[in-house]
Amino acid sequence: MKYKVSFSIDFRRNPYRGKFIALEGIDGSGKTIQTARIVEALKEKGYDAIGMKEPTDLVIGKFIKQEVLSGKISIPPVAIQYLFSADRSMHQVEIEKLLKKGKIIVSDRYFWSAVCYGIADLDQVADYYITVLSLLSPYNRFLKPDITYFLDIPIKTALKRIGKSSKHNEIYDNEKKLVKIKRAYDFIKKKFEKEFVAVDADKTIEEVTDELLKRIEKSAKRVHKVKSS
Ligand SMILES: Nc1ncnc2c1ncn2[C@@H]1O[C@H](COP(=O)(O)OP(=O)(O)O)[C@@H](O)[C@H]1O
Ligand SMILES: [Mg+2]
Repeated sequence: MKYKVSFSIDFRRNPYRGKFIALEGIDGSGKTIQTARIVEALKEKGYDAIGMKEPTDLVIGKFIKQEVLSGKISIPPVAIQYLFSADRSMHQVEIEKLLKKGKIIVSDRYFWSAVCYGIADLDQVADYYITVLSLLSPYNRFLKPDITYFLDIPIKTALKRIGKSSKHNEIYDNEKKLVKIKRAYDFIKKKFEKEFVAVDADKTIEEVTDELLKRIEKSAKRVHKVKSS
């Protein structure tokens, strides 16, 4: 017996005073460095900004990094997804507390990363995967960022940035993985097009920071008056 399931999905919106920004993109796109630089620059301009990341440094996030991503233990991709979701639900408590206080949160990765890496890992038809995940996971209960910036770079640039110390085999593996992840991001960006703002990240570190800051300041001033006096 086959059952056909179809449904609409929406996300929880940020109801708080603060602003929730996420940076997404393939490995090497500059998420980590830009998160740090943007938070620093916003603080210098007097904004109450804070950087966060996923996986977090909380107990499950630490486990993910130390045991799973390091390759110490091998668990099925779906188990990794649940761990990420568990970590995210703890992250969520922190995020909501800070948004209530009016902070600007910049998160280095958020749930779109999990969806895209999940799709890439499973090699499944993406539509099917999203449907199953939505049914089984608490995705639709997570707070959606106000803006997700997608740091857009070609695979070639990513390989150059992350591959400097890699050997030939690693570079080949990296490339195959990056192609899959980029494909998943492209699918997701198209499917949820209103959720992403693409930024050309194939520029100097300073140019990308300037572009992001310009955009963030514009929307922060307009919508959320969180600038401290
Ligand atoms: N715009 C850029 N130009 C040149 N190198 C960059 C740029 N952005 C990041 N890098 C370098 O590429 C590497 C990966 O950056 P990182 O911020 O860790 O990316 P991600 O967190 O997206 O994987 C780092 O060594 C970083 O210094
Ligand atoms: Mg990073």
